[in-house]
Amino acid sequence: MTTLSGKTFAITGAFGALGTAVVQALRREGADVAALDRADAPRDPAALHGAKAFGGVDVADEAAAAQAMAAVIAKFGRIDGLVNIAGGFRWETVEGGSLDSWDALYRMNVRSTVAACRAALPHLGAGGRIVNIGANGAVKAAAGMGAYAASKSGVAKLTEALAEELKPRDITVNALLPSIIDTPANRADMPDADFGKWVRPEQIADAIVFLLSERASAITGALIPITGRV
Ligand SMILES: NC(=O)c1ccc[n+]([C@@H]2O[C@H](COP(=O)([O-])OP(=O)(O)OC[C@H]3O[C@@H](n4cnc5c(N)ncnc54)[C@H](OP(=O)(O)O)[C@@H]3O)[C@@H](O)[C@H]2O)c1
Repeated sequence: MTTLSGKTFAITGAFGALGTAVVQALRREGADVAALDRADAPRDPAALHGAKAFGGVDVADEAAAAQAMAAVIAKFGRIDGLVNIAGGFRWETVEGGSLDSWDALYRMNVRSTVAACRAALPHLGAGGRIVNIGANGAVKAAAGMGAYAASKSGVAKLTEALAEELKPRDITVNALLPSIIDTPANRADMPDADFGKWVRPEQIADAIVFLLSERASAITGALIPITGRV
C-alpha cells in the first residue's frame, strides 16, 4: 500500500520535463494518473510508467479542458486531484519585447491553470487537491522577466483566491514556486552554470506527492518556494 493508491490525479503539461517526473512519482505512489498535454503523444510513452496519456489537449481552451476532464472520468471514474504543470517561459525586456508576449504568457501560465481548475472542479470532492506550479522568479522579478513573472504572479494569486473559495468544500489549493529546474533545456541554455545547485524535477515531484497526500490536509493557500541551492 503506497501513499496515493486508490486515487486518480490529472496532470497537465505531463509530457514535459517536470510533468514526466511528477507522473512517475505518482505512479510509484500507487496512483492512477491521467497525463494531459498539448502534444499528441509523449516522446517516450514508456516514461509515463503506465499513466493514461491524453494528448492533443490545450488546457487553456475551456471546452478542450472540460472535454479532457470528462474523458478522465470516463476512464477512471474519479478525479482526486489536479496538478497544473502546463506553462512556459519567455525572456524579453519590456522595451525591446512585444506587447503580444504579455498576452501569450498570460494564456500560457494563468489561463491554462484557471481553465484546468474550472474543468476539474465539478469532479472534485471533499479531500480534493489542486497543486499549481508558479515560479520563484515571480517573487522578485529580474530584468527580462516582466511578462513571465506577471503571469506566474497570476498563478500565485489564483492559488490564494481559489484556496479560500474551496475551504468550505475541503479542497486544498497550493502552489510550488521553483527556481531554475535541472532540465535538459536549461542545461542546454546555460551550459556554464552549476547544475548541482538547481532543484531537480524529482525533488519537486516529492513535494507534490506530499501536497496530494492525506498528510497535507491542513495546508492550503500556501506558496512554497522550492529552489534547491540557488
Ligand atoms: N524549467 C524551469 O526552470 C522552470 C522554473 C520555474 C517554473 N517552471 C514551470 O514549471 C512548469 C514545467 O516546466 P518544464 O521545464 O517541465 O517545461 P516543459 O518541459 O516545456 O513542459 C511543459 C509542458 O506543458 C505543455 N503545455 C504548455 N502549455 C500547454 C497547454 N496550454 N495545454 C497543454 N499542455 C501545455 C508543453 O507543451 P509544448 O511543448 O507544446 O509547449 C510541455 O509539454 C511550467 O509551468 C514552467 O513555467 C519551470
